[in-house]
Amino acid sequence: MSFDARDRSRDLADVGIRPRVRIQTEPPHESANARNGTQQATAREVVFDIRNMSVHYGDNRALDATTLKIYRNLVTAVIGPSGCGKSTFIRSLNRMNDSVPGFRLGGQVLYHGHDVYGTAVNRVEVRRRIGIVFQRPNPFPKSIYDNVAWAPRNLGMKADLDAWVKQALRHAALWDEVQDRLRDSALSLSGGQQQRLCIARAIAIEPDVLLLDEPASALDPVATASIEDLMRALKSRYTIVVVTHNMQQAARVADHVAFFSLDQIGSGRVGTLIEYADAETIFRAPKDARTRDYVTGQFG
Ligand SMILES: Nc1ncnc2c1ncn2[C@@H]1O[C@H](COP(=O)(O)OP(=O)(O)OP(=O)(O)O)[C@@H](O)[C@H]1O
Ligand SMILES: [Mg+2]
Repeated sequence: MSFDARDRSRDLADVGIRPRVRIQTEPPHESANARNGTQQATAREVVFDIRNMSVHYGDNRALDATTLKIYRNLVTAVIGPSGCGKSTFIRSLNRMNDSVPGFRLGGQVLYHGHDVYGTAVNRVEVRRRIGIVFQRPNPFPKSIYDNVAWAPRNLGMKADLDAWVKQALRHAALWDEVQDRLRDSALSLSGGQQQRLCIARAIAIEPDVLLLDEPASALDPVATASIEDLMRALKSRYTIVVVTHNMQQAARVADHVAFFSLDQIGSGRVGTLIEYADAETIFRAPKDARTRDYVTGQFG
């Protein structure tokens, strides 16, 4: 069974971007561990190179110019107070905001070196490579099987469909719980199972990146723990960007953390990237007082 979504060296003309994917490698952020030599300084592949990305909805500036790089096979957590632009940030990575009236993006989002907002880019292809899962589980009112088979079917992947569905459910750590009831309605699952089903649906076509917008905030502690286990397991296959309000969760699962806050700019408050570093730095030795106040619960 093979599917080319993960083959980054193949011609990307169907994404409307230049023929060959240029792989960028960079040293990782220098972390406290790296400095004291306990962490191997290995080159990491840059998946997103975000350059001065700003977002407006109509006249409202939601996100100030943001520059950061997101690395392959890491969990990057996005944290910050409500309204600081976390959802706006991750939704802008796979063009989910395009349909929002008044949405305007400035700067550039380079995905494996290619401009996600380039004029010839095929948005369907972008979303195939960069999957997203939302806060509230939103399975289709169809069977468990049909939820997972939905995207592969749409892409014409009719052969081996059972194998694709099984693999996605296994990778989403749901197979053991649902293998005997694949034809049952997805809505008969618990909230935590529904969220893992949505993750299975997202990974059924083997995207490159998984964007998760507060995937566990509607779940109880047990279901939350299983989503966290899942993130840790999935990062060997995918690059994960997760929005969370839960500092303990960010500390448990994230390799890198981006802290956004609302900054007074002109007459308005605008979402602004305050600090971006490895999780240990953000949680143990943040450079900015605003980060420290937020992660220690003194603000937000
Ligand atoms: N569809 C939209 N249309 C207009 N403005 C929007 C839209 N979505 C978000 N905004 C505005 O953009 C800003 C950032 O919102 P966003 O949802 O990205 O914040 P957030 O950090 O995800 O907040 P929360 O933690 O509450 O989910 C807010 O001022 C919000 O009102
Ligand atoms: Mg949000």
